[in-house]
Amino acid sequence: MTTIKEVAKLAGVSVATVSRALNNSGYVSEEARKKVESAVKELNFYPNEVARSLYQKKSKLIGLLLPDIANPFFPLIAKGVEDGVNQRGYSLLLGNVEDDLEKEKDYLKIFAQNNIAGVISAVQGDIKDLQNMPFVLLDRVESDQNFSVHSDDYTGGMMAAEAIVSRDPKEIVIMVGPKEVPSSAARLAGNQKVLKDHQLDYQIFQTSSFKFELAEQTAEQFFDTYPNVDSVIASNDVYAIAVMKEALKRGRRIPEDVQIIGYDDMPFSRMMYPGLATIAQPAYEIGYRGAKLLCDILEKGFVEVSRIQLPVILKIRESVRKKDEDE
Ligand code: RIB
Repeated sequence: MTTIKEVAKLAGVSVATVSRALNNSGYVSEEARKKVESAVKELNFYPNEVARSLYQKKSKLIGLLLPDIANPFFPLIAKGVEDGVNQRGYSLLLGNVEDDLEKEKDYLKIFAQNNIAGVISAVQGDIKDLQNMPFVLLDRVESDQNFSVHSDDYTGGMMAAEAIVSRDPKEIVIMVGPKEVPSSAARLAGNQKVLKDHQLDYQIFQTSSFKFELAEQTAEQFFDTYPNVDSVIASNDVYAIAVMKEALKRGRRIPEDVQIIGYDDMPFSRMMYPGLATIAQPAYEIGYRGAKLLCDILEKGFVEVSRIQLPVILKIRESVRKKDEDE
């Protein structure tokens, strides 16, 4: 009876490669897959569970997992991913996880049932769940994570703190994003570096979510905790705007009594008045570059650069106090 070793020898690949190709358990280049298929045919190596998997052609579908499509940051990511995969002949299956990691597992099962070619995830879930298929992680990644695209959260945190420090702060509070999101720690570290360098005291308010629906109640808790705050470094634009609303409800003027800087630069942040000062993340480009990275992995079998970090931009608007050199 033909063995897998004989298949590997004839195909000129390792037994591990044959096993991955036959079981779809991990990446195999198109060239190696073709060699394995040819050797299987020539040696008539057809254990029935193999026949299915070897000829289980991957679809032209790519799965995208997002934490919360109610937050306008993620539709921008999705648009970038969609444009990127469409240009390479793939279509998108979207899974809105809503920060529920059980839901993430359910979507991964649905993706597998649809025989997707690969998955792109902006969810800070357990990477082990993704390792049996080609994957790219977006946004909520550790800086040493391979196959990832995110923006420079540490520098963004420094920029946000510098914008506040240079505008006569008195009572500074940092509103930190959820602990389980890697970017929260990076931004906080950037905030703290600048505040320490300027020898400024500050308080920390730890949030438990980036969820859109929790922003207003979080802002109320924030002011109940720090009623005398006059300078806020917020965890993202949605929560920054909730803080602005709560400040106005409490009769505080913006930016005279309370100045606020957000993070993301969502479309509404520049449309409202006072406009929200913030750190602009290239959300669309994060999605688009993530799509390109995954398609390169699928088509070429390798990538020269597997970790991509994109720059962020400071956007000064009316929610922070003026200083001389402001435009
Ligand atoms: O607003 C949503 C937040 O979560 C953004 O800052 C983005 O980085 C995402 O991780």
